[in-house]
Amino acid sequence: MDFRLTEEQEMLRQTARDFSEKELRAGVAERDEKEIFPGEYIEQLSELGFMGMVVSEENGGTGFDTVGYVVALEEMARIDPSVEIIVSVHNSLHIYPLEKFGSDYIKKECLSKMVTGEWLGAFALTEPGSGSDAGAMKTTAAKSGNEWILNGTKNFITSGSNCDAYVLVAVTDKDKGAKGSTAFWIPRETPGLIVGKHENKMGIRSTDTVSISLEDARIPEEYIIGKPGDGFKIMLTALDSGRLGVAAQGLGIAQAALEESLSYSQERFQFGKPIAAFQGIQNKVADMQIKISQARWSLYHAAWMKDQGERYSKEAAIAKVACSEAAMWCANQAVQIFGGYGYCKDYPVERMLRDAKITEIYEGTNEIQRVVISRALYGR
Ligand code: CAA
Repeated sequence: MDFRLTEEQEMLRQTARDFSEKELRAGVAERDEKEIFPGEYIEQLSELGFMGMVVSEENGGTGFDTVGYVVALEEMARIDPSVEIIVSVHNSLHIYPLEKFGSDYIKKECLSKMVTGEWLGAFALTEPGSGSDAGAMKTTAAKSGNEWILNGTKNFITSGSNCDAYVLVAVTDKDKGAKGSTAFWIPRETPGLIVGKHENKMGIRSTDTVSISLEDARIPEEYIIGKPGDGFKIMLTALDSGRLGVAAQGLGIAQAALEESLSYSQERFQFGKPIAAFQGIQNKVADMQIKISQARWSLYHAAWMKDQGERYSKEAAIAKVACSEAAMWCANQAVQIFGGYGYCKDYPVERMLRDAKITEIYEGTNEIQRVVISRALYGR
């Protein structure tokens, strides 16, 4: 067993770290405060190859392995978790299923614009009445000649108003339940597709999270991804990969919370000593590192399993829980170490605590991750 990253993975980490420090750090608090979408960075992210990370070179991507992918995401999340999730959704939930399940037509016409970052991708699954029970979706797609006509509402879509297209799952055969759902690629400019409410969120405030409604929205039959009836499995396959991205986001936040705590506790004097001299603080930073190390290795292991071509649903769920809970715990401790200052927006740990919370919720709540893990243990 070799725990070292390869030269290429280390290079990716360094590139992502340099970019995040140089470009993202300065404006992160303002983007959070004013809900500014970080669209200006997409061109640079594309030039660095980060918008086509999970797609093979044959299909125009950079073909990085999954370990390299999560390492790069972790570095982005360490500075700006909003940018990280935009990149993660684009890669894991949008372009990954396009390459894995898409026809030659989809790869040529849709994927090609996405891997270069010319177009930004989003993922539309959740509906007002179906969240954890994703199979209970109501959005329909009906075939009419050589088109599909879609009707329904999707919500909580990351990048939903700034993206150029969605990977969307809709019911095509009501009698078959989840087995009657189908995945589609839908350009945002499709007539009948209306971008709705923008959510005013607790954290990751520079991402745009919106609902969309589809009112007789027509798309050509070629925009189907995979076969009719395969939508639910395509969606769950994409979510396995997406959960690695959310885990990387949590890990980056946890790491940043630890770093802030280490430096603040050495500068802040109380009782004539830096607070780092007190065992109460030392225990907190030690516990942060323990949780971060456990979370990091669970994530790299899950990513490595994906790279081996093995089923990694359970491992992705473990990593998602471990990293998101590490993020919440570490950010909360960091606020505690900063005391009253930690509760104020002048210091970054307040934002970290708000950003951390979503990692326990989206792309499958941690309760759902535990369902996935326990089902695997019982062989169900
Ligand atoms: N990969 C591929 N196939 C899978 C799979 C996986 N990971 N997990 C299950 N399947 C297959 C099953 O084998 C089964 O196939 P068969 O019927 O042929 O046996 C089929 O899919 C249905 O599986 P289940 O019976 O297990 O389905 P279920 O209805 O009990 O639900 C669930 C399972 C795990 C609860 C699932 O619904 C789930 O993950 N829910 C959470 C949804 C979610 O993550 N939503 C977040 C949306 S995205 C978002 O957050 C917004 C954003 O923009 C970031």
